[in-house]
Parts: sequence; C-alpha cells; structure tokens
Amino acid sequence: MDARTGIGIIGAQFAGRFHAQIWETLPDAEVVAVADVSPEAREAFCRDYGSVPAYTDLTGLLADPNVEVVDVCVPNFLHAQMAIRAMETGRHVICEKPAATTLADAEQVVEVQQRTGRRYCYAEDWIFAPALVRAERIIREGGIGRPLFLKGKECHNGSHSPFAKTIEYCGGGSLIHVGIHSIGYFFHLLGMPERVTGCCNGGGADNFVHKDFEGEDWALGVLHYPNGEKALVEGNYITTGGMDDSMEAYGTEGVIKVDLTFGSPLSVFSKNGISYAVEKAEFTHGWTRPAVDENESLGYKDELTHFLDCVRNDTPQVPATTAEAGFAVLRIVEAIYRSHREERTIALT
Ligand SMILES: NC(=O)c1ccc[n+]([C@@H]2O[C@H](COP(=O)([O-])OP(=O)(O)OC[C@H]3O[C@@H](n4cnc5c(N)ncnc54)[C@H](O)[C@@H]3O)[C@@H](O)[C@H]2O)c1
Repeated sequence: MDARTGIGIIGAQFAGRFHAQIWETLPDAEVVAVADVSPEAREAFCRDYGSVPAYTDLTGLLADPNVEVVDVCVPNFLHAQMAIRAMETGRHVICEKPAATTLADAEQVVEVQQRTGRRYCYAEDWIFAPALVRAERIIREGGIGRPLFLKGKECHNGSHSPFAKTIEYCGGGSLIHVGIHSIGYFFHLLGMPERVTGCCNGGGADNFVHKDFEGEDWALGVLHYPNGEKALVEGNYITTGGMDDSMEAYGTEGVIKVDLTFGSPLSVFSKNGISYAVEKAEFTHGWTRPAVDENESLGYKDELTHFLDCVRNDTPQVPATTAEAGFAVLRIVEAIYRSHREERTIALT
C-alpha cells in the first residue's frame, strides 16, 4: 500500500490533540479531517496541526471520502454510537477508553465489529507504554517467578473535561475514567478475573474533594484471578502534585516497580518554575521530574503505530485492544461498581 492512510479525528481537544501530535510523526498516516462541535476547538486544532476540513459533527466527517479511519476522541458517552456509525460506513475505528458507558452499548460495538469486519481498536495506552511492555516481558519470562499480587493506579487531581463530571456523560467517576487503565493492562496480562471486590466513595457530597462530580473521586477494586493471583486497581482524583501512574508486581521470585509518570531521567530544580513538568502538576517550582515525552512514555505513540499497522497491513491486533476486550474491561469496571453498591464480591465467570 503506497498512499498514506486518511485519519479523521472526532473530538479536537485534549485527547484529539495528542493523537494529532502522534499522527504527525507517522509517515504512513495523514490527518485528513477533524470534527468537533466547538468552533474554538476546531480553529485551534487547524491552527496547530494543519488546515484540514473541519466538520461540526460525525455526519460531516463520515461524508468525507478521504477519511478511512475514524479516531474517536470525544467524551465517553459518545464512544459506542460513533464507533458503530463509523464501522457501518466502512471505516476502521480507533476508540479512546472506555469502549462505552454501558455494557449494552459495548456489546453492540462487538456485534457491529463482527458483522462489518472493520478494525475496531480499543485504545488502552498502558498496554503499549514502553516501561510496562518491558515489565510484561519480564513477568512472562518468569523473571519474578509466579505473580502473586499486582497493583496499578492512575490518579490525579480531577479531570479537566466538563464531561467527566456527570455520570451520564462519563459512565461513572474516577474508576471508569482513570482507574480503567490498570484494569485494561491487567486484562492484557492475566485475562478475566473470576471475581471482583470494589470500594468507592459515593460521588457528590460523599466525595473526598470533588463535591461537584456526580461520580466517585476515589475507587479501589480487587481482582481475584482463577490461578490465585490478586490485583489491586485504583483510580482517584484526590492526588495532588501531578498525575501518578504506577504499577507494581510481586512474584514468588521477585518484584517489579514501574513509575510511568515520575520515573523521568530528568530532575530539575527551578526557582522560577518551568512551563511544563508532568500532566496535572499544579506548579513547577523547586524540584520536579519533568516528563521527556509523554506521548512516548505513556504508550500513545506505540499504540497508534500498532493500530495503523493493523489497518494498513492487516496484521494481527494485540488481543486486549479488540472490541471484545473493550467490552470485557467494561464488565470488570461495572462489576467493581456493583460490588461497591451491593457490598459483596461479584463473580464474573
Ligand atoms: N488514554 C488516555 O490516557 C486519555 C487521556 C485523555 C482523554 N482520554 C479520552 O479521550 C476522550 C476525550 O477526552 P478529552 O480529555 O479530550 O476531553 P475534552 O473535553 O478535552 O475534549 C472533548 C472534545 O469533544 C468535543 N465534542 C463533544 N461532543 C461532541 C460531538 N457530539 N461531536 C463532536 N465533538 C464533540 C468537545 O467539544 C471537546 O472539544 C475521553 O473519552 C477520555 O476518556 C484518554
């Protein structure tokens, strides 16, 4: 295949913009169109990433014959319906997490993907983050013996996106929005847990900090696997000082610790503060560990590179990124919520 693959991004702010930064670096891809309801977002996107046709909605994007892959970067509640419409018109889909805000919608994505045969790429970047890929290899080669207990978390001081504040638009709170990363990674590593136990705060007035968020601002889940492994997953919005993404694995013969966001090789002391250190850091005075390239270290670049290769060369997809995987990960999230509500462990198998 010679021509570059035409990418149409829908949702032109935070995620849409870092996807665009990566597409710019991939010689076999070209962002040919963008869509967003917000005129400011469309204008800023075209100013920063090139003047492409800019549509107000998905209908416009799908009418553009240059769009071969729809890259879904809109709020969570729109993921399933947009992915489905795109696949129905013959497009491949890359979809940000979560796959949907309800299991019924995620199931429909699976059905449409199977019927249309289009690629659906569930964008869990942790699976591609270089440090986590290295950790996975060490675990799979037996470097820490038999895994016993894993811990994973994404935590920060609260989503910047207004859509993350309501359950209708987000699907929940910090668990579905940020805790989902470690759930997706552990699904990739260990498959489906047989039981889950959840504990969250209740959203709104019951939250620790974010009383204006309908969903919880702190959530934990324990995943119990058939071979006896346990995993603790966490997503919270009560973490100040910058986004904290980390994973630990404890095995019979060793331990692995991965610090995705503060593991930078750079240490900087600045009396004046610097323009950027790490995502969601409130300020940058004094000592910081500035990220060198978050698009790389958080896995976004290798993730989009893999999806492009799948679409262009029909290469096998990492199994934990399929539509079925998006559904499975959401099942785990929903079971953790249910466990919390019903105050009991929920069986998944
Ligand atoms: N993988 C990651 O680490 C990661 C990081 C950030 C965001 N995300 C995901 O990306 C998605 C977007 O999050 P964000 O932080 O970019 O949100 P955002 O609020 O910054 O941007 C969302 C954009 O979608 C636009 N939009 C809303 N409804 C629309 C519609 N009907 N048609 C077209 N455009 C519409 C909004 O105007 C806005 O510009 C979310 O699903 C989030 O979970 C993933």
